[in-house]
Amino acid sequence: MPYPWTTAWVTGASTGIGRELVNLLAAAGVRVAATARSADKLAELARRSPSILAIPCDVTDRAAMRDAHDRIIASFGRIDLAILNAGVWDQTPASKFDAGRAAETMAVNYLGLANAVDPLVAEMVARKGGHIALVSSVAGYRGLPLASYYAPSKAAATSLAEVLRGELPRHGIKISMINPGFVETPMTAVNKFPMPYMIKADDAAMRILRGLQKGKFEIVFPWQMMAMMKLARLLPYPVYFWLVQNVIAKQASEPEQ
Ligand SMILES: NC(=O)c1ccc[n+]([C@@H]2O[C@H](COP(=O)([O-])OP(=O)(O)OC[C@H]3O[C@@H](n4cnc5c(N)ncnc54)[C@H](OP(=O)(O)O)[C@@H]3O)[C@@H](O)[C@H]2O)c1
Repeated sequence: MPYPWTTAWVTGASTGIGRELVNLLAAAGVRVAATARSADKLAELARRSPSILAIPCDVTDRAAMRDAHDRIIASFGRIDLAILNAGVWDQTPASKFDAGRAAETMAVNYLGLANAVDPLVAEMVARKGGHIALVSSVAGYRGLPLASYYAPSKAAATSLAEVLRGELPRHGIKISMINPGFVETPMTAVNKFPMPYMIKADDAAMRILRGLQKGKFEIVFPWQMMAMMKLARLLPYPVYFWLVQNVIAKQASEPEQ
């Protein structure tokens, strides 16, 4: 089935899942704008296909994100699909919590979404069309050990996706939320703990595009991680914290900082 989009914007496109999304979309003939901070990696990506427009941009820079959005509209005419994928992972034991690092993660994983949603919604509401997909994580379902910056930022991303999904369809805008489990990318390459049911980045990108093509709101994979995290969400706190302290935290050992 051909993709229903002729133009797209992928943030966090220089590596990992974002890069694979750009490759798949461009291979299918979709004109795709690829943004991230690494200009060299984006330029290399753009050399692969004339359908790829590389725009170096930091998601934490609100003005730069608006400029990037406006440049894409100027080149493509409109953005049919925006996949807001840029993200960072910073593993720290809660005993060494650092507010500065919490702010850095929130700036990328939550405010980075907000900085894209702002210009996208304004243009899409006026046009009464478009599809915005926010990349969150299964880590957004519950507070997990060693994720004292990441999990709250993804819970915020999940909440934003739910709010937008409640309100924006009446303006003709589709909203999706993407919650991957473990995916083999530079982000997870640093992890020393076991990562069950890990999948490859190109597999993740295919699952994401399939879900978006079907117009799904919640795209979560693989099913084993979905089942575990959704079950974890249903557990009463005493049971959940027993599991965290006796099973999960023992596997995710505290690194030396
Ligand atoms: N891998 C997993 O297991 C997993 C699981 C659940 C959710 N996710 C989510 O999936 C998304 C993609 O992750 P990934 O695994 O593909 O990681 P990745 O390979 O590390 O890619 C992260 C991307 O985000 C970009 N980025 C980071 N900070 C940025 C900033 N300030 N401004 C603009 N771009 C920025 C990076 O590019 P530059 O450094 O060039 O800016 C890179 O392109 C993230 O939101 C992540 O939280 C991943």
